[in-house]
Amino acid sequence: MSLLEVNSLKKIYSSAFKSNAVTALNNISFSVEEGEYIAIMGESGSGKSTLLNAIAALDTPTSGNILLKGTDFTKIPDHKMAAFRRSHLGFVFQDFHLLDTLTLEENIYLPLVLNNTPLHEMKRRLNALIPSLGIGRILKNYPYEVSGGQKQRAAVARALITYPDLILADEPTGALDSRSADELLNLFNEINENGQTIIMVTHSISAASHANRILFIKDGAIFHQIYRGTASNDELYNTISKTLTVLMSKAPSPIRRIAN
Ligand SMILES: Nc1ncnc2c1ncn2[C@@H]1O[C@H](COP(=O)(O)OP(=O)(O)O)[C@@H](O)[C@H]1O
Ligand SMILES: [Mg+2]
Repeated sequence: MSLLEVNSLKKIYSSAFKSNAVTALNNISFSVEEGEYIAIMGESGSGKSTLLNAIAALDTPTSGNILLKGTDFTKIPDHKMAAFRRSHLGFVFQDFHLLDTLTLEENIYLPLVLNNTPLHEMKRRLNALIPSLGIGRILKNYPYEVSGGQKQRAAVARALITYPDLILADEPTGALDSRSADELLNLFNEINENGQTIIMVTHSISAASHANRILFIKDGAIFHQIYRGTASNDELYNTISKTLTVLMSKAPSPIRRIAN
Protein backbone atom coordinates (compact mmCIF):
# COMPACT_ATOMS: atom_id res chain seq x y z
CA MET A 1 0.00 0.00 0.00
CA SER A 2 1.28 3.45 -0.90
CA LEU A 3 1.51 6.15 1.77
CA LEU A 4 -0.67 8.47 -0.32
CA GLU A 5 -3.00 7.62 -3.17
CA VAL A 6 -4.65 10.34 -5.21
CA ASN A 7 -7.40 8.80 -7.34
CA SER A 8 -9.10 10.54 -10.28
CA LEU A 9 -9.17 13.83 -8.44
CA LYS A 10 -11.30 16.53 -9.97
CA LYS A 11 -11.96 20.05 -8.75
CA ILE A 12 -14.36 22.34 -10.49
CA TYR A 13 -14.82 25.85 -9.15
CA SER A 14 -18.26 26.87 -10.24
CA SER A 15 -19.68 30.34 -9.99
CA ALA A 16 -23.21 31.66 -10.19
CA PHE A 17 -22.66 31.79 -13.95
CA LYS A 18 -22.20 28.24 -15.12
CA SER A 19 -20.18 29.25 -18.13
CA ASN A 20 -17.53 30.55 -15.74
CA ALA A 21 -16.84 27.17 -14.13
CA VAL A 22 -13.11 26.47 -13.91
CA THR A 23 -11.75 22.94 -13.98
CA ALA A 24 -8.75 23.37 -11.67
CA LEU A 25 -7.97 19.64 -11.41
CA ASN A 26 -8.88 17.28 -14.20
CA ASN A 27 -8.69 13.62 -13.14
CA ILE A 28 -5.35 13.63 -11.40
CA SER A 29 -4.09 10.26 -10.17
CA PHE A 30 -0.73 9.43 -8.64
CA SER A 31 0.67 7.73 -5.60
CA VAL A 32 3.45 8.54 -3.17
CA GLU A 33 5.57 5.93 -1.44
CA GLU A 34 6.88 6.35 2.08
CA GLY A 35 10.20 8.22 2.09
CA GLU A 36 9.70 9.98 -1.25
CA TYR A 37 10.56 13.64 -1.78
CA ILE A 38 8.36 15.04 -4.54
CA ALA A 39 8.36 18.47 -6.13
CA ILE A 40 5.27 19.70 -7.99
CA MET A 41 5.87 22.27 -10.72
CA GLY A 42 3.71 24.00 -13.29
CA GLU A 43 2.79 27.43 -14.54
CA SER A 44 0.77 29.81 -12.44
CA GLY A 45 -2.88 28.76 -12.55
CA SER A 46 -2.09 25.14 -13.46
CA GLY A 47 -3.71 23.78 -10.27
CA LYS A 48 -0.73 23.24 -7.93
CA SER A 49 -2.23 24.96 -4.90
CA THR A 50 -5.62 23.37 -5.50
CA LEU A 51 -3.91 19.96 -5.53
CA LEU A 52 -1.89 20.67 -2.39
CA ASN A 53 -4.95 22.02 -0.57
CA ALA A 54 -6.87 18.87 -1.46
CA ILE A 55 -4.04 16.69 -0.12
CA ALA A 56 -3.94 18.93 2.95
CA ALA A 57 -7.64 18.22 3.45
CA LEU A 58 -8.26 21.97 3.42
CA ASP A 59 -10.54 21.72 0.44
CA THR A 60 -12.96 19.03 -0.76
CA PRO A 61 -12.60 17.73 -4.28
CA THR A 62 -15.56 17.69 -6.67
CA SER A 63 -14.92 13.99 -7.29
CA GLY A 64 -12.24 11.40 -6.73
CA ASN A 65 -10.59 10.57 -3.44
CA ILE A 66 -7.34 10.71 -1.53
CA LEU A 67 -6.12 7.94 0.75
CA LEU A 68 -3.49 8.43 3.40
CA LYS A 69 -2.33 5.02 4.67
CA GLY A 70 -5.57 3.63 3.28
CA THR A 71 -7.85 6.16 5.00
CA ASP A 72 -10.02 8.20 2.66
CA PHE A 73 -9.80 11.85 3.77
CA THR A 74 -12.91 12.82 1.97
CA LYS A 75 -14.93 10.48 4.25
CA ILE A 76 -13.73 11.99 7.54
CA PRO A 77 -16.45 14.10 9.18
CA ASP A 78 -15.71 17.82 9.46
CA HIS A 79 -15.46 17.88 13.26
CA LYS A 80 -12.67 15.28 13.19
CA MET A 81 -10.79 16.84 10.31
CA ALA A 82 -8.61 19.31 12.25
CA ALA A 83 -7.37 16.59 14.60
CA PHE A 84 -6.69 14.25 11.68
CA ARG A 85 -4.72 16.97 9.91
CA ARG A 86 -2.71 17.79 13.06
CA SER A 87 -1.80 14.16 13.70
CA HIS A 88 -0.89 13.16 10.16
CA LEU A 89 0.25 16.19 8.20
CA GLY A 90 2.89 18.87 8.64
CA PHE A 91 2.73 22.19 6.77
CA VAL A 92 5.38 24.62 5.63
CA PHE A 93 4.13 27.77 3.90
CA GLN A 94 5.83 30.48 1.85
CA ASP A 95 4.93 33.11 4.46
CA PHE A 96 5.66 30.89 7.50
CA HIS A 97 2.24 31.19 9.21
CA LEU A 98 3.79 31.73 12.64
CA LEU A 99 1.73 33.51 15.28
CA ASP A 100 3.37 36.83 16.21
CA THR A 101 2.02 36.77 19.77
CA LEU A 102 3.82 33.50 20.57
CA THR A 103 7.55 32.83 20.88
CA LEU A 104 9.10 30.47 18.33
CA GLU A 105 9.12 27.74 20.98
CA GLU A 106 5.41 28.25 21.69
CA ASN A 107 4.67 28.27 17.95
CA ILE A 108 6.51 24.97 17.56
CA TYR A 109 4.60 23.42 20.47
CA LEU A 110 1.22 24.64 19.24
CA PRO A 111 0.09 21.52 17.30
CA LEU A 112 1.10 19.32 20.27
CA VAL A 113 -0.65 21.63 22.75
CA LEU A 114 -3.80 21.28 20.66
CA ASN A 115 -3.35 17.48 20.83
CA ASN A 116 -2.98 17.64 24.65
CA THR A 117 0.60 16.36 24.65
CA PRO A 118 2.35 16.60 28.08
CA LEU A 119 5.02 19.31 28.39
CA HIS A 120 7.90 16.88 29.08
CA GLU A 121 7.10 15.04 25.84
CA MET A 122 6.99 18.33 23.88
CA LYS A 123 10.37 19.29 25.33
CA ARG A 124 11.87 15.89 24.56
CA ARG A 125 10.77 16.13 20.92
CA LEU A 126 11.96 19.71 20.51
CA ASN A 127 15.37 18.94 22.04
CA ALA A 128 15.82 16.17 19.49
CA LEU A 129 15.07 18.60 16.64
CA ILE A 130 17.27 21.49 17.79
CA PRO A 131 20.69 20.27 16.56
CA SER A 132 19.72 19.78 12.91
CA LEU A 133 17.49 22.87 12.77
CA GLY A 134 19.94 25.27 14.41
CA ILE A 135 17.23 27.13 16.34
CA GLY A 136 18.42 26.54 19.92
CA ARG A 137 19.36 30.16 20.60
CA ILE A 138 16.24 31.80 19.17
CA LEU A 139 13.51 29.72 20.79
CA LYS A 140 12.52 32.48 23.23
CA ASN A 141 12.35 35.08 20.46
CA TYR A 142 9.19 36.23 18.76
CA PRO A 143 8.82 35.73 14.99
CA TYR A 144 9.30 39.47 14.27
CA GLU A 145 12.67 39.36 16.03
CA VAL A 146 14.30 36.79 13.72
CA SER A 147 15.18 36.47 10.01
CA GLY A 148 13.05 34.82 7.33
CA GLY A 149 15.36 31.80 7.23
CA GLN A 150 15.10 31.38 11.01
CA LYS A 151 11.31 31.75 10.87
CA GLN A 152 11.13 29.04 8.22
CA ARG A 153 13.33 26.69 10.29
CA ALA A 154 10.97 27.20 13.24
CA ALA A 155 8.04 26.47 10.90
CA VAL A 156 9.79 23.25 9.83
CA ALA A 157 10.23 22.32 13.51
CA ARG A 158 6.50 22.95 14.07
CA ALA A 159 5.75 20.67 11.10
CA LEU A 160 8.11 17.90 12.26
CA ILE A 161 7.24 17.85 15.95
CA THR A 162 4.01 15.91 15.46
CA TYR A 163 5.92 13.16 13.58
CA PRO A 164 3.65 13.60 10.54
CA ASP A 165 3.21 10.96 7.84
CA LEU A 166 3.66 13.66 5.25
CA ILE A 167 5.10 17.17 5.06
CA LEU A 168 3.35 19.49 2.60
CA ALA A 169 5.22 22.62 1.58
CA ASP A 170 3.82 25.37 -0.69
CA GLU A 171 6.66 27.50 -2.11
CA PRO A 172 8.72 27.12 1.10
CA THR A 173 11.67 29.05 -0.32
CA GLY A 174 9.53 31.72 -2.00
CA ALA A 175 10.14 34.40 0.64
CA LEU A 176 13.76 33.54 1.44
CA ASP A 177 17.05 35.00 0.19
CA SER A 178 19.14 32.54 -1.79
CA ARG A 179 21.38 31.54 1.11
CA SER A 180 18.46 30.84 3.45
CA ALA A 181 16.71 29.01 0.61
CA ASP A 182 19.75 26.76 0.16
CA GLU A 183 19.86 26.10 3.90
CA LEU A 184 16.18 25.19 3.92
CA LEU A 185 16.60 22.86 0.94
CA ASN A 186 19.55 21.15 2.62
CA LEU A 187 17.41 20.76 5.72
CA PHE A 188 14.62 19.18 3.66
CA ASN A 189 17.16 16.76 2.17
CA GLU A 190 18.40 15.87 5.64
CA ILE A 191 14.94 15.20 7.04
CA ASN A 192 14.03 13.25 3.92
CA GLU A 193 17.17 11.12 4.33
CA ASN A 194 15.90 10.39 7.83
CA GLY A 195 12.77 8.93 6.25
CA GLN A 196 10.37 11.89 6.18
CA THR A 197 8.08 11.97 3.13
CA ILE A 198 7.82 15.46 1.59
CA ILE A 199 5.65 17.00 -1.14
CA MET A 200 6.75 20.50 -2.13
CA VAL A 201 5.11 22.86 -4.61
CA THR A 202 7.69 25.19 -6.12
CA HIS A 203 8.37 27.58 -8.99
CA SER A 204 12.07 27.27 -8.39
CA ILE A 205 14.04 24.88 -10.58
CA SER A 206 16.88 24.82 -8.10
CA ALA A 207 14.48 23.93 -5.28
CA ALA A 208 12.87 21.19 -7.38
CA SER A 209 16.29 19.78 -8.30
CA HIS A 210 16.70 18.73 -4.64
CA ALA A 211 13.71 16.37 -4.87
CA ASN A 212 13.72 12.75 -5.98
CA ARG A 213 10.71 12.99 -8.28
CA ILE A 214 9.18 15.97 -10.06
CA LEU A 215 5.54 16.06 -11.16
CA PHE A 216 4.67 18.64 -13.83
CA ILE A 217 1.09 19.89 -13.84
CA LYS A 218 -0.52 21.58 -16.80
CA ASP A 219 -4.16 22.65 -17.00
CA GLY A 220 -5.04 20.56 -13.95
CA ALA A 221 -3.53 17.33 -15.23
CA ILE A 222 -0.18 15.59 -14.86
CA PHE A 223 1.79 16.45 -17.96
CA HIS A 224 5.00 14.60 -17.17
CA GLN A 225 7.10 13.27 -14.34
CA ILE A 226 10.82 12.86 -13.82
CA TYR A 227 12.55 10.48 -11.45
CA ARG A 228 15.99 11.52 -10.30
CA GLY A 229 17.54 8.09 -10.74
CA THR A 230 21.27 8.57 -10.35
CA ALA A 231 21.33 12.18 -11.59
CA SER A 232 23.11 14.87 -9.58
CA ASN A 233 21.24 18.06 -8.59
CA ASP A 234 22.88 19.89 -11.53
CA GLU A 235 21.88 17.20 -14.02
CA LEU A 236 18.37 17.16 -12.63
CA TYR A 237 18.27 20.98 -12.87
CA ASN A 238 19.00 20.73 -16.62
CA THR A 239 16.36 18.06 -17.19
CA ILE A 240 13.77 20.13 -15.31
CA SER A 241 14.57 23.27 -17.34
CA LYS A 242 14.21 21.39 -20.60
CA THR A 243 10.90 19.87 -19.49
CA LEU A 244 9.57 23.29 -18.47
CA THR A 245 10.48 24.69 -21.88
CA VAL A 246 8.43 21.95 -23.55
CA LEU A 247 5.61 22.35 -21.02
CA MET A 248 5.31 26.06 -21.70
CA SER A 249 5.68 25.86 -25.47
CA LYS A 250 3.01 23.19 -26.02
CA ALA A 251 -0.57 24.39 -26.51
CA PRO A 252 -0.50 28.17 -26.58
CA SER A 253 -2.43 30.03 -23.92
CA PRO A 254 -5.89 31.37 -24.91
CA ILE A 255 -4.47 34.89 -25.11
CA ARG A 256 -1.82 33.83 -27.62
CA ARG A 257 -4.43 32.01 -29.63
CA ILE A 258 -6.51 35.15 -29.93
CA ALA A 259 -3.46 37.23 -30.86
CA ASN A 260 -2.61 34.78 -33.63
N1 LIG B 1 -11.43 29.75 -5.03
C1 LIG B 1 -11.40 29.73 -6.38
N2 LIG B 1 -12.48 30.05 -7.11
C2 LIG B 1 -12.47 30.00 -8.45
N3 LIG B 1 -11.40 29.65 -9.19
C3 LIG B 1 -10.28 29.31 -8.52
C4 LIG B 1 -10.20 29.33 -7.09
N4 LIG B 1 -8.95 28.96 -6.72
C5 LIG B 1 -8.28 28.72 -7.86
N5 LIG B 1 -9.07 28.92 -8.95
C6 LIG B 1 -8.70 28.71 -10.35
O1 LIG B 1 -8.25 27.36 -10.50
C7 LIG B 1 -7.10 27.29 -11.34
C8 LIG B 1 -5.94 26.68 -10.60
O2 LIG B 1 -5.53 27.56 -9.54
P1 LIG B 1 -4.36 27.24 -8.52
O3 LIG B 1 -4.54 25.87 -7.99
O4 LIG B 1 -4.30 28.35 -7.53
O5 LIG B 1 -3.07 27.26 -9.47
P2 LIG B 1 -1.52 27.41 -9.11
O6 LIG B 1 -1.34 27.18 -7.65
O7 LIG B 1 -0.86 26.38 -9.98
O8 LIG B 1 -1.13 28.79 -9.53
C9 LIG B 1 -6.85 28.71 -11.83
O9 LIG B 1 -7.51 28.86 -13.07
C10 LIG B 1 -7.51 29.56 -10.77
O10 LIG B 1 -7.92 30.79 -11.30
MG1 LIG C 1 -0.44 28.49 -6.19
